[in-house]
Amino acid sequence: VEPSGLTFHAEPHETLMEAARRNGLTWPTVCGGEGSCRTCFVVVTMGSDRLSQIAALEQRGIDDITRSRAYEGPVRLACQAHALGDIVVKRRGVRPDRALAESE
Ligand code: FES
Repeated sequence: VEPSGLTFHAEPHETLMEAARRNGLTWPTVCGGEGSCRTCFVVVTMGSDRLSQIAALEQRGIDDITRSRAYEGPVRLACQAHALGDIVVKRRGVRPDRALAESE
């Protein structure tokens, strides 16, 4: 994840955001992963062909996000997309979950 440089492993059955949380990271969200807030979106800088297919809910989000602004790479919703191989994404605000770290 750029620009933080954080890396984590995602299983094919979990979304990028679910995988990040399982790995002790927080991911920007308002809706909690329902696919409605668009806050979780990423710009894919490497490996966009190694992400799951885009379903209708995610496509609506992508259309909303890209309607008024161009991005330097494909846009995906981290709460909907699944990684099927190595990828690199841009998303500010991804960081270690302090509450989780303090409880350990
Ligand atoms: S977390 Fe709200 S759309 Fe992804």
